[in-house]
Amino acid sequence: MGTSSNPPKSLAELRSRRWFADAGMRGFAHRQRMQQMGVRRQDVMERPVVAVINTWSDLSPCHAHLRERAESVKRGVLLAGGYPLELPALSLGEVMVKPTTMLYRNFLAMEVEELLRSLPVDGAVLLAGCDKTTPGTLMGAISMDIPVLFCAAGPMLNDRRVEAGQTRRIGAGTHTRLFWDEKQAGRIGDAEWIALEAKMTRSPGTCNTMGTASTMTSIVEALGLALPGSTAIPAMDAAHPRMATDCGERIVQMIWEDLTPSRLLTRGSFLNAAAVQMALGGSTNAAVHLIALARRAGVALTLDDLDAMGRKVPVLANLFPSGDRLMEDFWYAGGLPALMQRIAGQLSLGEMTVTGRTLGENIAGAKVLDDEVIRPLARPVSADGALAVLRGNLAPEGAVMKLSAADPKFFRHRGRALVFDSPAEMNARCADPALDVDEDTVLVLRHAGPVGAPGMPEWGGLPIPKKLLARGVRDMVRLSDARMSGTHYGSCILHASPEAAVGGPLALLRSGDLIELDVAARRLDMLVDAAELARRRAAWQAPPRAVSRGYTRLYQEHVTQAHEGCDFDFLQGNAPSPEPAIY
Ligand code: FES
Repeated sequence: MGTSSNPPKSLAELRSRRWFADAGMRGFAHRQRMQQMGVRRQDVMERPVVAVINTWSDLSPCHAHLRERAESVKRGVLLAGGYPLELPALSLGEVMVKPTTMLYRNFLAMEVEELLRSLPVDGAVLLAGCDKTTPGTLMGAISMDIPVLFCAAGPMLNDRRVEAGQTRRIGAGTHTRLFWDEKQAGRIGDAEWIALEAKMTRSPGTCNTMGTASTMTSIVEALGLALPGSTAIPAMDAAHPRMATDCGERIVQMIWEDLTPSRLLTRGSFLNAAAVQMALGGSTNAAVHLIALARRAGVALTLDDLDAMGRKVPVLANLFPSGDRLMEDFWYAGGLPALMQRIAGQLSLGEMTVTGRTLGENIAGAKVLDDEVIRPLARPVSADGALAVLRGNLAPEGAVMKLSAADPKFFRHRGRALVFDSPAEMNARCADPALDVDEDTVLVLRHAGPVGAPGMPEWGGLPIPKKLLARGVRDMVRLSDARMSGTHYGSCILHASPEAAVGGPLALLRSGDLIELDVAARRLDMLVDAAELARRRAAWQAPPRAVSRGYTRLYQEHVTQAHEGCDFDFLQGNAPSPEPAIY
């Protein structure tokens, strides 16, 4: 359980004073340079200095409004007696960044940690939300351990489409793939396809499905690092800039209270986050990010904890891709405080939060306003749970499967493997109408993990071969060491660990081998005898790495495996780094 009972900080104890109150030549230079920008001496001498870390850029559509929101945060800081400074950070727009934003999550984490360490700031508001920007900014802030408050970008507005006389909700990401399959099958023509491109994403804001963005921002709220109810506010709702102002006001108070992440993050708060992930039917990506965040905080959390939570907490949020509603509906239905009330029996309600109150106090009185969006425990969207962790001779350290977005007919399955060694090979062969494949085949993509790809891209939702699409097949068992977009659906087994590129058993699999999946027993095996596997192991050679320089080389040499959170080995743990010397 966390605690907020620190004696209040005095002005003399503020971290920024080391820069601005210094009596020597350095202090003179720091104040002089602030005054060069028109800032008054007393603004930085007599107030806490707040960093507004902004992940806005012209290539991050989900964060297109964050420049304006930064102004709202700054207003809150000023109203509360602080001084705000906006600091841009790597923006990581999910769709634009290649080969994958995951490659750069740790880069952003390092950037945020070092921005906060190297500059004269006492606390920070993190403006982020698009997939990796949430764990990236938070991992860095947790490691720096100064007061920090997360201000979520908020989801984009709903879209709708009339299908067979019925108005249906259209979700970003989820329907892009669904409509692509329909186009491949010849059921959507070119004109409609172009029209969909223009209308499906109606406003700035993060994906409106329960994809990785909404999963991660909800998890941050459950961890106690965002204001209660803040993360589901639609980006374009007038409540959003008001919430951003609240964030600015509250961070100043948190600085005086010295309410740092290390005083908020406990095993209990991480289990709360896991419970919320399950009740939301959240993205499988959260399994990687949550473990990475926990390791930064020095909290023990494993895939087994997530599997155990998945067995206890049913999916209650009826949101794409597990359900059929969108984040705007979730907001109208009461948002996360209402959902957490529904699963209060599985939460550690005494955990301290950024409000200075406990989680239980924050959600007291929250009510579900629409039982179709946030279902009662007696009528879940899926009783099978959001996430299962599978182990066996194909994934000795674990693989994950999002049960709520899969077809239950595959929960016990045996099929022959069809193995692809690259996405280029996979795409070319899946487009071949003569491909030797049927609906029982298990499609496998390897060398797509943290080291192999590199960066563990979202290639794990392998395409259904064109030949089967034409027959009406829309789901089949797929296996990879990659991740999958949280907006995606299907019977996909992901994050097989260790990955093929470092000699994980996926590397030994051959097309034609039988694969057996048993979700109830949490097993995933290739039915190949031990002697044959030993022969293949002896003949295996590590694939050559294409990149030999720069950040990607650093990444490949230091990234940990999926079950360890894919953080860099030298960034894990909560050993303090020294404050920079000022001479
Ligand atoms: Fe930014 Fe989905 S692309 S949240």
